[in-house]
Amino acid sequence: MGLVHEIDYGTKASNAAALVTLTIDGVKVSVPEGTSVMRAAMEIGTQIPKLCATDMLDSFGSCRLCLVEIEGRAGTPASCTTPVAEGMVVHTQNERLGKLRRGVMELYISDHPLDCLTCSANGNCELQDMAGAVGLREVRYGYEGENHLDSAKDVSNPYFQFDPAKCIVCSRCVRACEEVQGTFALTIAGRGFDSKVSPGMEESFFESECVSCGACVQACPTATLMETSVVEIGQPEHSVVTTCAYCGVGCSFKAEMRGEELVRMVPYKDGKANHGHSCVKGRFAWGYATHQDRITRPMIRAKISDPWREVSWDEAISHVASEFRRIQATYGKGSIGGITSSRCTNEETFLVQKLVRAAFGNNNVDTCARVCHSPTGYGLSQTFGTSAGTQDFDSVEQADVILLIGANPTDGHPVFGSRMKKRLREGAKLIVIDPRRIDLVRTPHVEAAYHLPLRPGTNVAMLTALAHVIVTENLYDEAFVRERCDLDAFTLWAEFAAAERNSPEALAATTGVDPQLVRAAARLYAKGGNAAIYYGLGVTEHSQGTTAVMALANLAMATGNIGRVGVGVNPLRGQNNVQGSCDMGSFPHEFSGYRHVSTPEVRQAFEVDWGVSLDAEPGLRIPNMLDAAVDGTFKGLYIQGEDIAQSDPDIKHVTAGLAAMECVVVQDLFLNETAQFAHVFLPGSTFLEKNGTFTNAERRIQLVRKVMTPKNGYEDWEVTQLIAKALGYEMNYAHPSEIMDEIARLTPSFAGVSFDLLERQGSVQWPCNEKAPEGTPVMHVGGFVRGQGRFFVTEYVATDEKTGPRFPLLLTTGRILSQYNVGAQTRRTANTAWHEEDLLEIHPHDAEQRGINDGAWVKVASRAGETSLRAKVTDRVAPGVVYTTFHHPMTLANIVTTDYSDWATNCPEYKVTAVQVSPSNGPTESQQTYADLGRRTRQIEATPAE
Ligand code: SF4
Ligand code: SF4
Ligand code: SF4
Ligand code: FES
Repeated sequence: MGLVHEIDYGTKASNAAALVTLTIDGVKVSVPEGTSVMRAAMEIGTQIPKLCATDMLDSFGSCRLCLVEIEGRAGTPASCTTPVAEGMVVHTQNERLGKLRRGVMELYISDHPLDCLTCSANGNCELQDMAGAVGLREVRYGYEGENHLDSAKDVSNPYFQFDPAKCIVCSRCVRACEEVQGTFALTIAGRGFDSKVSPGMEESFFESECVSCGACVQACPTATLMETSVVEIGQPEHSVVTTCAYCGVGCSFKAEMRGEELVRMVPYKDGKANHGHSCVKGRFAWGYATHQDRITRPMIRAKISDPWREVSWDEAISHVASEFRRIQATYGKGSIGGITSSRCTNEETFLVQKLVRAAFGNNNVDTCARVCHSPTGYGLSQTFGTSAGTQDFDSVEQADVILLIGANPTDGHPVFGSRMKKRLREGAKLIVIDPRRIDLVRTPHVEAAYHLPLRPGTNVAMLTALAHVIVTENLYDEAFVRERCDLDAFTLWAEFAAAERNSPEALAATTGVDPQLVRAAARLYAKGGNAAIYYGLGVTEHSQGTTAVMALANLAMATGNIGRVGVGVNPLRGQNNVQGSCDMGSFPHEFSGYRHVSTPEVRQAFEVDWGVSLDAEPGLRIPNMLDAAVDGTFKGLYIQGEDIAQSDPDIKHVTAGLAAMECVVVQDLFLNETAQFAHVFLPGSTFLEKNGTFTNAERRIQLVRKVMTPKNGYEDWEVTQLIAKALGYEMNYAHPSEIMDEIARLTPSFAGVSFDLLERQGSVQWPCNEKAPEGTPVMHVGGFVRGQGRFFVTEYVATDEKTGPRFPLLLTTGRILSQYNVGAQTRRTANTAWHEEDLLEIHPHDAEQRGINDGAWVKVASRAGETSLRAKVTDRVAPGVVYTTFHHPMTLANIVTTDYSDWATNCPEYKVTAVQVSPSNGPTESQQTYADLGRRTRQIEATPAE
């Protein structure tokens, strides 16, 4: 097993259909028009020496190493910038070219430290390789002349270092930052001999605009930009392709290893979701996997106030089984349940819901997707017929208009955010609907055509106002609607949308947005060419989350922006496997593939396969489990990879529910906040320690491959299997691929999926079955999955969470780039360098009124509770709106959020809470108590397991 080697063709592939034939070193080759001579040569296996060219970037032509001779042309053109031409005859090797190349290399080497043997890039350095390739044997200029060898290293970034002494000023880093990442953090400062790479205005990397995506490090052909981990550990010796476990973009990485030690994660160029790009989390923030806080032995305790006792796996598993059986015997079959995780693999999730349905004998299973994208599932299935986004990420390259609502891709989905920025730089227009001025509203070389800064909680009013303009100004696509949609439903909707009360003018007082802006945005969306909608939790986490999803689907259908490349309705999924956990039957009313448990033929298929009879009644959702626990009828819970005591709304209610149970089993990497209420702790395994699959926001199923042995001894699916067996229900899978075979057998949209297919094809987007054996990149082409697309009337109903004299401000929440969700992983990495604590963003006007200075402690109080954090005074938020992230447990952001939720799915209304903000002296009493509880939970008796 060696390193996975990806060929660098030097320049990008051309998509042109027309072919051009030329001769290179006597060999005829036909390549698409627009291909460079360098790439054409690579197609026939001829590597022309190069330094400034790489196929991730546009060709630049600065190093002059790739010169060739072309018959009939004067001079020696650079092959990376010269496109092929019909009949062209190229020579890549002869004495003259060799001499010229050696001359170029000599200049580079004479200003380069000669420490190859001790250099961190030794053996993996393009400069070293090229010196060999051109046959450099001597450096006539000597090494004593003027040089850059004394330039100081910049080690300000926690993950990579910059050693200018080794820089050959090829600009690959600068171009990667511009073209791939779109941050424009680097420049070449100075001219000629004095030119050098500089972050920002000669700042350090850490102080600059750099977002640590790593694109420049990857692009650098020398050791100038180098991962600190490689400097410390050494060059990797083998690699395994796997999938990032952070967000729903689902980037592919090569996990580069030395033995069982991870050296670095390098984005995989062949990854269909990321095409070789990454963000700071997937690229660098993997240190939590070996963090000392990880619990690797099972633990139990009789009461939650007792210290933990380490036990053997056997004891832990039989304790869980006997407790669950005791509880069911005492309180009834429905008194226990399970929670699956969107962090775990499809196979693990499928197994947990199977455990609940088949071994617990009820349908009390739910998932954390309940609290994020359940309205997406319901809204899109009602309107289009499928609970998922409609496009692949590549589709954005064909979009002319991007409507972005309630999502902040440059922080939440950074790699897709970069793709979006690229398309916007190419000329696509952007409409941002968000209470906050997110980065995309204005960022280098990107400016939104319209930013509609609506009041939190008024999405439905805003989307209906857009619909009003589309209907009343005849901007809809009548032919599409007639051919593809339910006409009666359309007529009802159009009448509703056209009503004067739904005009942008009538709704301006509600949304707080200038009606002229709304009208202009509607016209652009309807008539600006291919228009694609992207949205996030700012749409779903509302009392009308499902209505808003339906309103988005209405807009897409009305304007014919669905069913082809470049358009569609696309939820940006938060966690790595939110899509998968929903697909796998994690909801109490649905089997895998979104089929209701009460449908006899579906249930029967599962009963036959699983050899048990199954309950036809939907089970309890998470909030109902907690209610029932408080009422004393729900007593036992198995929670895999989920921290409901921190991530669910109204923490007081959640903790009361957990505290009322008799056996809470938490399976996780760390003693999380929920573990404060656990009686059994089962150590979990990281994505690096398991095999399986994740499904990203594009419905793309990708392999997660084990690169190291689980520190706890088991992959998570094995633990679920042990619990099932201890409960007397046989599960005998030898490998997750067998679980996937079962999923495929029982789930029509997955019928063609197998690990073999994924190995062959790299990834596949469901539906994947007989009709679509290679998967489905774009859905609803030629017809909706449900038959006719269905419009829904989306009457705006204001949330019950209203501002008033006591709570005059609206709090909304989101995430930032460097941290992830409740921070369990990212807080255990050097990412804390960028975000040590959650801050409350408040507009200068609101801050001044309250006597609040930037950086001061403030109390945030709502009807549900109060917490304290530091203020950040900024006009990113509008007056009347405050904003915070929820990455640190001490922030207790969810102690202030209420228990209001989406009418259809119970998805909590995280995005709107009426609050008051006032100066404070520091953390509140609850925060102190919480911290104490956390400390107590981490008490472990030194009882060695055998
Ligand atoms: S790490 Fe990314 S953002 Fe930072 S300078 Fe390099 S390419 Fe630019
Ligand atoms: S840092 Fe690396 S990529 Fe950037 S100019 Fe120098 S050698 Fe080239
Ligand atoms: S964008 Fe998401 S999937 Fe990609 S590296 Fe970052 S966190 Fe991982
Ligand atoms: S590789 Fe062509 S000029 Fe540098």
